Amino acid sequence: MKKDLFAHKSKSWDMKSLRVQNAKAIAEKIVENIPLTHEMHLLDLGAGTGLLSFFLAQKVGKITALDNSPSMLEVFKEKQDDFACETQSIQSDIMELKTTKKFDAIISSMTIHHIENIPALMKKLHTLLKPNGFIALADLEKEDGTFHSDNTGVYHHGFDTNTLKQITHDNGFTNIKIHHASTIEKPHKEFKIFLLTGEKR
Ligand SMILES: C[S@@+](CC[C@H](N)C(=O)[O-])C[C@H]1O[C@@H](n2cnc3c(N)ncnc32)[C@H](O)[C@@H]1O
Repeated sequence: MKKDLFAHKSKSWDMKSLRVQNAKAIAEKIVENIPLTHEMHLLDLGAGTGLLSFFLAQKVGKITALDNSPSMLEVFKEKQDDFACETQSIQSDIMELKTTKKFDAIISSMTIHHIENIPALMKKLHTLLKPNGFIALADLEKEDGTFHSDNTGVYHHGFDTNTLKQITHDNGFTNIKIHHASTIEKPHKEFKIFLLTGEKR
């Protein structure tokens, strides 16, 4: 069993208002750019405690929260009854997820910098989507490595968005766009958060 890298953070995760505001801003950008309906089943990649999903629940039919951290999912499960849509949680590494289920859209906030092989991730997301399904993935723009106070489990210090667009295209997506979703202001610096949207071709 792999170490739960979020065990010491899970209980207090939702107490940081900056995190909540960031998730809300990302959710609003998703609503602006993805045609969500109550028939849709979303997969939240690295859902954590469900901050992003919570803000989208009133727009869709069902959300599956996927995370490899049992402690983060524990907090998600405590909040499940407050969600405006049906919910489910799956504890798994995205790269090891085995399911024949296909989703209408895959959403994600602040998770893909924790995943080493981004081309393999994009390929995996493609297999998990229905035809014409959407991705909406938010994360840090390229940064200098000072966003996290501890970079354990961080494989990317943000992303060059043009490179990420190309990788997404090369793995079967079309209509790929980068949107500015939010800015996180830390005492020493501000960090920009993008939202990448695309469609399965
Ligand atoms: C920075 S947190 C973001 C949580 C949530 N999306 C939010 O915005 O509050 C990253 C989350 O991704 C999860 N995660 C990291 N790598 C993962 C992987 N390979 N598969 C599934 N979940 C992963 C972590 O356990 C953690 O809960």
